[in-house]
Amino acid sequence: MIKALRQDRDLSDEQFRALLETDAYDAELKAAAHAVRLEHYGTDVYLRGLIEFTNYCKNNCLYCGIRRGNQKIRRYRLSEDEILGCCAEGYALGYRTFVLQGGEDPYFTDERICSIVSAIHSRYPDCAITLSIGERSHESYHAYFEAGAERYLLRHETADPVHYAKLHPSDMSCEHRQQCLFDLKHIGYQVGAGLMVGSPFQTTDCLIADLRFLQKLQPDMIGIGPFLSHKDTPFRDEPSGDLKLTLRLLGILRLMFPDVLLPATTALGTLHPLGREMGLQTGGNVVMPNLSPTAVREQYMLYDNKICTGEESAQCKGCLERRVESIGLHIVSSRGDAKCFRRSV
Ligand code: 5AD
Ligand code: FES
Repeated sequence: MIKALRQDRDLSDEQFRALLETDAYDAELKAAAHAVRLEHYGTDVYLRGLIEFTNYCKNNCLYCGIRRGNQKIRRYRLSEDEILGCCAEGYALGYRTFVLQGGEDPYFTDERICSIVSAIHSRYPDCAITLSIGERSHESYHAYFEAGAERYLLRHETADPVHYAKLHPSDMSCEHRQQCLFDLKHIGYQVGAGLMVGSPFQTTDCLIADLRFLQKLQPDMIGIGPFLSHKDTPFRDEPSGDLKLTLRLLGILRLMFPDVLLPATTALGTLHPLGREMGLQTGGNVVMPNLSPTAVREQYMLYDNKICTGEESAQCKGCLERRVESIGLHIVSSRGDAKCFRRSV
């Protein structure tokens, strides 16, 4: 089955189900995923500097610690100067991709986002700018692209509409989120979709629907990590996503999408002290250390016990370098564009 998946980059639903529901193939899957990553990306691991620039959010997703309904957190926004300061620090440390991530915060109008993006773009023309600021209009996405943003992360969260409705209030929809992803692709962004493994009510059928959706979208990046509960959300008592299942999905994704950029996520590192290393050994080829000012890191808690909130940016980079080297892989300081992405202009 693993050979077939590697060769055809696809399986039947029933085969995917069998693969997802047992650990019998895990060792073989891990070896195949690692072989495919070596074929396509060698031992390279790409760095993305994550700047969490606002924890205000107008949405109320049931799983998320910065949801609107959480009145216990202290909200913050970084100014343009503070964001540029993070970039300066990151650039000096060797980062060539900046990911601006935030809640859906209406304070950051198109004008403000464009101003930030173009300021970064003109100071660091050799860097890629990634946005991760949720659902916006086609027109807005287009404006950010014109300002210099080239990549966009918007996890689809789940491709099953019934499951989606159990994770989100009724003012959000699966269809609209997916439409945003197709809009972004159409504009010319390198696009990242993704999901949480083990989110409440997730079934194997949901995961198969996710794989089918990803085949349709053909994203350049896929962000997956375990669901982890947050004490001030409705899902506070829900169990964490499973480590083995998360790794299994990473392996499956590497075989299905040999050129995709696949981060070993902070959530995976939070679930297990060596989670990111295991992710990188099962097809992962990206790490996203935190570049946010240490003063605000504690306030960007999507889930409990998030790692790296006490460290300085330079410490995080050094820590990850050691972790990556310890498993025979190497951080490279290039922009790390997806091999599958062809610029249309
Ligand atoms: N556990 C794990 N991941 C989470 N995210 C949000 N809340 C949680 C949580 N409790 C993920 C979502 C979102 C991304 C930024 O973080 O998938 O898209
Ligand atoms: Fe941040 Fe290890 S990556 S402390």
